[in-house]
Amino acid sequence: MNATILHNKKVLITAGPTREAIDPVRYISNHSTGKMGYAIAREFLRQGAQVFMVSGPVCIELQHPNLTVVHVNSANEMYMACCRFFEDADIAVFAAAVADYRPAKIAEQKIKKEDSSFTISMVKNIDIAFEFGKIKTAAQVSVGFALETNDELAHAQGKLQKKNFDMVVLNSMNDANATFGYDTNKITVVRRDKPHQEFLLKHKTEVAKDIVKEICSLLINHYEHEELVQFE
Ligand code: CTP
Repeated sequence: MNATILHNKKVLITAGPTREAIDPVRYISNHSTGKMGYAIAREFLRQGAQVFMVSGPVCIELQHPNLTVVHVNSANEMYMACCRFFEDADIAVFAAAVADYRPAKIAEQKIKKEDSSFTISMVKNIDIAFEFGKIKTAAQVSVGFALETNDELAHAQGKLQKKNFDMVVLNSMNDANATFGYDTNKITVVRRDKPHQEFLLKHKTEVAKDIVKEICSLLINHYEHEELVQFE
């Protein structure tokens, strides 16, 4: 059933880190490798979906006739690229580790060392998932990620509400061999319509299958709900 429900569905995926420039040679970023986002893209493609991937800088190359990849660096670029695809998307998966802040000013020339300390003033970046959460329609399924160090479930529930997600994939920094850089991951799925579910540590390819299966069940719920509304 899942193999057909995704056929020709349009899926927007953000993946990888963002890089926020300090000067022409330096940037602020994080440890995201994009492995999880790309594994999810592969699984959607395997099941016949059309994938639009907006990717920060990663060392992964993926090619497929049903795949469009837009490479970006900064959070602003990632947001602008997502704007091209969100409205038409049936599903949006926000797997990117977007930098929350960027340097207030990008120096035009390489900054030379002078004083014994150096301060960078930062301003808040746009929250991509939050912005699209505001315009998401009832027919669209949106999925976010949360990487937490403490009070994991409470934070994931908070993100579900704040960013209008249908589902949050929760990672804990307290789990060994999960999160950044590893080929394995251990997730907890947090949804509005059922109690949270913990999955075992698995290869990211298998984790992607679990995530896509959950998304399929959310899609089915949406369609059943629409049919009910039309019937009433
Ligand atoms: N996200 C996003 N744009 C941002 C920040 C986050 O789209 N500027 C998305 C991420 O891709 C992820 C979700 O929002 O799906 C949660 O990201 P996270 O950084 O954990 O959440 P924040 O709201 O930034 O909260 P925190 O204070 O924990 O950093």
